[in-house]
Amino acid sequence: MKVLGINGSPRIGGNIDILLDKVLEGAESKGADIEKIVLNKLKFVPCQECEEMTYDGSCLIKDGMQEVYKKIKEADAVIFASPIFFGSLSAQAKMMIDRFQCAWRAKYILKKDNGYKKIQSAFICVEASTRKDFLENAKAVTKNFFVTINANYKYELFCQGIEFKADILRHQGYLKKAFKLGAKIAS
Ligand SMILES: Cc1cc2nc3c(=O)[nH]c(=O)nc-3n(C[C@H](O)[C@H](O)[C@H](O)COP(=O)(O)O)c2cc1C
Repeated sequence: MKVLGINGSPRIGGNIDILLDKVLEGAESKGADIEKIVLNKLKFVPCQECEEMTYDGSCLIKDGMQEVYKKIKEADAVIFASPIFFGSLSAQAKMMIDRFQCAWRAKYILKKDNGYKKIQSAFICVEASTRKDFLENAKAVTKNFFVTINANYKYELFCQGIEFKADILRHQGYLKKAFKLGAKIAS
């Protein structure tokens, strides 16, 4: 099976990056083929609300997002990971999600097959504070994204009180949970 990790943090070697690698390591331990996309490295624009939208769920803008659409379509499970920025997802993560408006429209307005098969998914989130409402906020947006790409929201891992780069390495419990999550989603 193919497990795709999507990293919404701009910090390479940061908390989300480390956690996502652990999840993917867990998935690989169960024989999964793993792949990771770092949104901050892609060149893509925010949704332009194109009036001339396609009818099959695809996006008209030919930029870095095309790779994301393709890789999600190829995956059997998606792990979406973002830090909390100002009480919500990172800008990179939200910008990616908005670019699925084409898929949302095909599914809910046109009531057509939007090209995404049924897959499993998990959400990983980190915050410096211990604000439950921030995590719930990010989760609500993520769930909306997952349902659009026909992904079943199966697992979540929320890490609180994690602020500085690679702080997560001092929390073995969270790293173990990340590995286990990856192993479970690939089983
Ligand atoms: C722009 C920005 C906004 C942030 N906003 C919040 C916030 O609203 N609540 C919070 O608990 N942490 C906030 N943080 C802290 C990050 O969530 C935290 O440092 C996290 O560990 C970063 O993960 P990363 O290393 O994967 O990027 C913010 C950090 C940045 C850079």
